[in-house]
Amino acid sequence: MSALTWSEALALQHPQMDDTHREFVDLLTELEAAIDGPADALAASLERFVAHTEAHFAQEDRWMGALGFAAENCHAFQHAHVLQLLAEVKAKHAANLPLLRQLVAGLAEWFPQHAQMMDAALAQTMAEQGFDATRGETERPRGANAAPITGCGSVSCSD
Ligand SMILES: [Fe+2]
Ligand SMILES: [Fe+2]
Repeated sequence: MSALTWSEALALQHPQMDDTHREFVDLLTELEAAIDGPADALAASLERFVAHTEAHFAQEDRWMGALGFAAENCHAFQHAHVLQLLAEVKAKHAANLPLLRQLVAGLAEWFPQHAQMMDAALAQTMAEQGFDATRGETERPRGANAAPITGCGSVSCSD
């Protein structure tokens, strides 16, 4: 049984985000399986997972920028924290199997909370503003003088 499996509970009814999140789950599962395999396949799997996660988070950060979020909001901060951790593991601990197992377990625990709170709040903000993620345009933009959104918009956000 893999650490994280896709379920409809993770779906946010935002096709582009849901596709990216399904890929995240698939690549994490692939990484988990690769820990018990040959070293070169493990390195390649870690590389794929990190590259995909960089693109995944960069895409959400771009969307937040287009929607009027402050650059330093708690959602973007979580992304940056995870990317920093991944970069460190890739650079210094890529052959440390117990640590990679811990990384997979930690991400499998973290991701559903992140998706159901922060990514869900982002999806809701996109829906409210009529944001077309493909074109990067909103139908109902916030006023030019609106203050930047400093929290992530989730109900548990204290900002
Ligand atoms: Fe996400
Ligand atoms: Fe996110």
